[in-house]
Amino acid sequence: MKTPHPDPPPQGGRESKPGRYGKYGGQYIPETLMAAVDELAAAFDAAVKNDGFRHEFEYLSRTFSGRPTPVYRADRLTQQAGGTEIWFKREDLCHTGAHKINNALGQVLLARRMGKRRIIAETGAGQHGVAVATVCAKFGLQCEVYMGVDDMARQAINVYKMQLLGASVTPVESGSKTLKDATNEAIRDWVTSRLPAVVVACVGGGSNAIGIFAPFYNDPVRLVGVEAAGRGLDSGAHAASIVGGRPGVLHGSFSYLLQDEDGQVMATHSISAGLDYPGVGPEHAFLHDQHRAEYVSVTDEQALAAFHQTSRLEGIIPALESSHAIAYAMPLAAELAAADVVLVNLSGRGDKDLDIVRGASGG
Ligand SMILES: Cc1ncc(COP(=O)(O)O)c(C=O)c1O
Repeated sequence: MKTPHPDPPPQGGRESKPGRYGKYGGQYIPETLMAAVDELAAAFDAAVKNDGFRHEFEYLSRTFSGRPTPVYRADRLTQQAGGTEIWFKREDLCHTGAHKINNALGQVLLARRMGKRRIIAETGAGQHGVAVATVCAKFGLQCEVYMGVDDMARQAINVYKMQLLGASVTPVESGSKTLKDATNEAIRDWVTSRLPAVVVACVGGGSNAIGIFAPFYNDPVRLVGVEAAGRGLDSGAHAASIVGGRPGVLHGSFSYLLQDEDGQVMATHSISAGLDYPGVGPEHAFLHDQHRAEYVSVTDEQALAAFHQTSRLEGIIPALESSHAIAYAMPLAAELAAADVVLVNLSGRGDKDLDIVRGASGG
């Protein structure tokens, strides 16, 4: 299977023109935003070519964020699945407990370079908001985070964390976010010695999956994105944008979208706040149409079972988002040859989800 990407992303990826992945992506934004977007694009292009900027990003990724994170063999889960080896990419070990810090650090360094003093973010599970608030605290920047009121209730600890870090959290009716991860050199090193047969990652906005897929684009590795099937695809209460949606425009970009016959964006449901979003980053739409990545879905119930199984068998409490990927990986591992490896992106920790899991498990 050959990749459509000649270079490792993030931004060096196969954009047919800036911001486009085939027919997906684009800039469906108001005229009044164009100047700001152009300014950002120019600043980004200059920054990534600047040795000082890259050095600072790499230095802080190592010393502040705790990267590169290791890969870890999940022996007891492997035994339980009864097939191929299951490995975790330990993004849950990053500072602030998820992959979000990679993006937040890059964005804030860029904003500083552009002379910006006020950082605005939106967040679903709160992990992205916490990561942005953390980096803003480090650099003394003003930080304002918009968060859906339901998410504020179900991820109250993260709201408190953001406030502790000095950010102001503004409640809104609904909301999530998309991110793009930083490239993952650790995986690159690792894959030179051993390629996994399959890489599995959950897909909300799509950032953690793109981050772990990208280093494998040119390798004979299956890439699987796991969306949230919520209470089941047939129930209508899900957030599987690619599996259950069709292309449309949301939040300025053309990509797969959960929409009704009239093109109205549909309400979503997932037990996991970070997957509870009706759209998906356009690069995934492109990878899907190119058949370079496969997209599947996992229900709330299956994700919860994987959450408990991983906690008990590995001593690692995974985020509910990541639990979707594990739930898909387990039966998959059972089907594959023992000599193969399934690499699961453990995108974050489950600390933020304990109340939800306790509620769902009736205890
Ligand atoms: C731990 C974790 N994993 C995954 C996601 C889903 O987002 P994305 O698909 O952009 O990685 C989130 C979002 O909040 C998250 O907190």
